[in-house]
Amino acid sequence: MMTFDTSSRDAVVTAALRRASSLAMLPETATRVIQLASDPNVTMGRLAEVIETSPELCARILRIVNSAFYGFPGEVRSIQRATTLMGLESVRNVTVAASLTRVFQGRSLSATFSPKDIWTHSVAVGTATRLLAEAAVPTLAEEAFLAGMLHDIGLMMELQMDRAKLSSVVAVVEAGQADVLGAEEAAFGATHQDFGAALLTAWGLPSSLSITAQYHHSPLPLPAQHRLVPALVYTAERLVAGVDRVFLLDDRSSIVSDDLLECFSMSRDRLVAVTAELPAALDEGSRLFVQ
Ligand SMILES: [Fe+2]
Ligand SMILES: [Fe+2]
Repeated sequence: MMTFDTSSRDAVVTAALRRASSLAMLPETATRVIQLASDPNVTMGRLAEVIETSPELCARILRIVNSAFYGFPGEVRSIQRATTLMGLESVRNVTVAASLTRVFQGRSLSATFSPKDIWTHSVAVGTATRLLAEAAVPTLAEEAFLAGMLHDIGLMMELQMDRAKLSSVVAVVEAGQADVLGAEEAAFGATHQDFGAALLTAWGLPSSLSITAQYHHSPLPLPAQHRLVPALVYTAERLVAGVDRVFLLDDRSSIVSDDLLECFSMSRDRLVAVTAELPAALDEGSRLFVQ
């Protein structure tokens, strides 16, 4: 594993986690589902019971499960049925995804930028990551989707910690005085990559998600066994930027290098085909998670 610098950065991140009461950001039902999903003795029935304590979450999950993302034959009408069809990890992932809309909220950070923009971006990147993964490594599609949805969650931690500082970061980036990582280093002493990785580890989600959060601005130097999901998310960000959904707080390039495609063994032609499917997928993602 690569290590990231100094102990002072670690101290900043640890203090942030403590102050931000990390688990309070995720609704309680989702936290319970994550805990249960890591219990080897849990039954699917028990998992469904916990989800059913939140009618709002149930409705969202059923909407997602019945969408084109899953394409199960026939309509899935109950959480019990959904859990049986999907299995433990899928249920956990979809529960977290369905819970996130409430996490990305808050007043605007500048005249043109608000937490909702971070959410819209996260859904677009998650959706594009899923599409890419379905073409490249279908067994990872869902984990990659959640990794894409959560890659910038460190920004929400910064918001919760100190919204004035995050506003100053947005102002510096908007003025073109620094990129987001540089502006965050100066303001917080760490970046949204550091905060996000620590948060996802604290939430008990798979390590590929925290590794993606930590390295999503430059995945290529990662060792091969950790590179796949971060590379998919990074590529998805480039594709999303290429269809006119440029995100202020990111590398805004839409160029996908050959090195990147090699990480998940995709040909340039296949990428072009996937890109052609992107607008419809982004509409579906936005319909399910943003509207
Ligand atoms: Fe991003
Ligand atoms: Fe980012």
